Amino acid sequence: MKSLIIYSSKKGTGEKIANYIKDSVDTEIQIEKIKKGLEINQNDYENIILISSVYAGTMNKEFIKFSENLLLNKNSEQKIYFLVVSGFEEKFQEFVENNIRNNLDKIDMIEYAGYCYDFNKMNFFEKFIIKKVAKVNESVENIRKDNIEKVIKKII
Ligand SMILES: Cc1cc2nc3c(=O)[nH]c(=O)nc-3n(C[C@H](O)[C@H](O)[C@H](O)COP(=O)(O)O)c2cc1C
Repeated sequence: MKSLIIYSSKKGTGEKIANYIKDSVDTEIQIEKIKKGLEINQNDYENIILISSVYAGTMNKEFIKFSENLLLNKNSEQKIYFLVVSGFEEKFQEFVENNIRNNLDKIDMIEYAGYCYDFNKMNFFEKFIIKKVAKVNESVENIRKDNIEKVIKKII
């Protein structure tokens, strides 16, 4: 079973999760960071895992475009899983619904993947926002391996 991970990440959490999945499985798996002009042959993969972080409620525009195109062209043997990297667990479904506008029903599973707040990677403004909104004052990692495992189980 060949699998593909497409991730969007600004500060490394999404990348960490993508690598965690790759290291957890023996099956063939390819990882691609989203970028403009990224080309893949969708029909080569039985499983596609989409990983996106959320900033100010939004996901990366290229990632959204790419994901919507994958969903549009999904074939009947293919599974598409979505992992949301976000500070607010209670909103992860909402973040997907607000960002991915078309063919949402074609996503086979949406899970919450947790978050990191790395103060070493934030600018002054970002630190200010996070202290205020998330009420976090220092670096913290809360990657939800329990939920990520649910997706891993599907691709092995
Ligand atoms: C400036 C800033 C804004 C953020 N805005 C949101 C948000 O609106 N909703 C949310 O759930 N998480 C938000 N987060 C949390 C990020 O999604 C979280 O830090 C995540 O781990 C980042 O993933 P990445 O390292 O892959 O980019 C924000 C984080 C930062 C630093």
